[in-house]
Amino acid sequence: MKLTVKTLDKNSSLDRENSACLVVAVTTDNRQSNFVSDLDQLSGGSISELIESGDISGELGKTTFLYQLPNVVGNSSKKYRLLFVGCGKKGEFNSSKAKQIIQATVKELIAKKIQTASCDLLTVDPTVSYTVARQFAEITGELTYRFDQFKSKRDDAIALDEITLIITDQDCVKEASEGLKHGEIIARAISATKDLANMPANICNANYLAEQGRSLTKTYSSLNVSCFGEDELAKLGMNAYLAVGRGSQNESIMTVLTYHGAADKNAKPYVLVGKGLTFDSGGISIKPAAGMDEMKYDMCGAATVYGVMQAIAELKLPINIVGVMAGCENMPDGNAYRPGDILTTMSGTTVEVMNTDAEGRLVLCDTLTFVDRYNPEVVIDMATLTGACIIALGHHYTGVMGNDDNLITDLITASKDADDKAWSLPIDDDFQKQIESTCADIMNASGRDGGTITAACFLSRFTSKYRWAHLDIAGTAWRSGASKGATGRPVALLVQYLLNQST
Ligand code: BES
Ligand code: MN
Ligand code: ZN
Repeated sequence: MKLTVKTLDKNSSLDRENSACLVVAVTTDNRQSNFVSDLDQLSGGSISELIESGDISGELGKTTFLYQLPNVVGNSSKKYRLLFVGCGKKGEFNSSKAKQIIQATVKELIAKKIQTASCDLLTVDPTVSYTVARQFAEITGELTYRFDQFKSKRDDAIALDEITLIITDQDCVKEASEGLKHGEIIARAISATKDLANMPANICNANYLAEQGRSLTKTYSSLNVSCFGEDELAKLGMNAYLAVGRGSQNESIMTVLTYHGAADKNAKPYVLVGKGLTFDSGGISIKPAAGMDEMKYDMCGAATVYGVMQAIAELKLPINIVGVMAGCENMPDGNAYRPGDILTTMSGTTVEVMNTDAEGRLVLCDTLTFVDRYNPEVVIDMATLTGACIIALGHHYTGVMGNDDNLITDLITASKDADDKAWSLPIDDDFQKQIESTCADIMNASGRDGGTITAACFLSRFTSKYRWAHLDIAGTAWRSGASKGATGRPVALLVQYLLNQST
């Protein structure tokens, strides 16, 4: 799928384009672009008639498909197909409306099996050209993604392979091209994250995560990798992490990717930590059967790290970044850890295991202790950590918690910029009391009340040395049911945060 920006003079005609389909913006207030008037003239006024009669609607997101309008002929003298897209009132265009319009457009192009299209949407309001171009790339990425490699009969191939964005305002070319570049990189990163996250646990174990990390460094020379298997984790004293993986036949492996983009090679890095439970059965505190298949997605935090590292390498951001995929599998077994066990974490803090299904925080707490060695600027962890987060924020918002208000604000700003929603939850001392244990320093699970927050409180006991934020992506990282699959969230949020930090 190729996306390009092309400048055309306001007075030139869309009729000279090579594409099989012309996508034309129409508004409700009859202030149509020169392209529309032009096509109208060519067709002897049929377009204005159709607008007048209401058959072509300028209403937001409405699409009208026309085939063979009289005299409107493409370069190859084949007749064009025309897709009119309603953009609402001209002066009231903005990025969220743009999203609706682009979604409607791309869905229609796919449904009608169009191969090439030229789009006149940037002329409605050139001031949002960065956003519109970026959204085009992200939305086509989203709508053309397939995970069908395990199907004997693959889904129908998507015909769409080229979209040209027509722009008339010379001043906006730079923004549009930049938007397109960012959008394409983010879309590729999201697809990479989805591919990794959708991979089933019989293939995607911690070693598979490590292999994927290694192969990323082969593609991008700016990335380096090091892997820590069970022997190394034991030497480091990461006993909580190891306890979780003890019931599994698959080795626990922590994969660390590093990227040096800052002029100062020793500049403090942004550290990303992803929960990488390649399968979470619950362990001895086993989960109910219904929906357990979805626990292959319990490594979506790690998959996010993978996608973000790829995006950063492609964007060549001038900062240093460390990305950790904390790979592990939680299984019941004779050797598995049990409720009641007391674990001594890498930091020395002891943990009473109340529930072996609260395993994510055990893997993360040692990883969060480990990353202090990088002298981080900030540490952000991503984890499908609590079912309670779905109760609190549904499937729309990622939960944000942490020990630094500025960092939390920056993440929420980035989430708005990138349209990858996130919302903050409080983690004050009132909640901290809930995780105190009678026989160890803390316990790993404590009742249902405020479950997302008490999980973050647990992590906060291991992050006091640096600025830290935690993203609970339990509700946002994948979809269930008929459209089951990874969403690639919060890749866009994090790439946006790092872009914002780099300028
Ligand atoms: N990976 C799960 C959280 C989860 C559950 C995410 C369902 C998305 C959908 C996590 O390891 C877990 O099992 N958490 C427990 C914690 C509890 C035992 C304190 C939970 O949320 O029930
Ligand atoms: Mn669990
Ligand atoms: Zn889990």
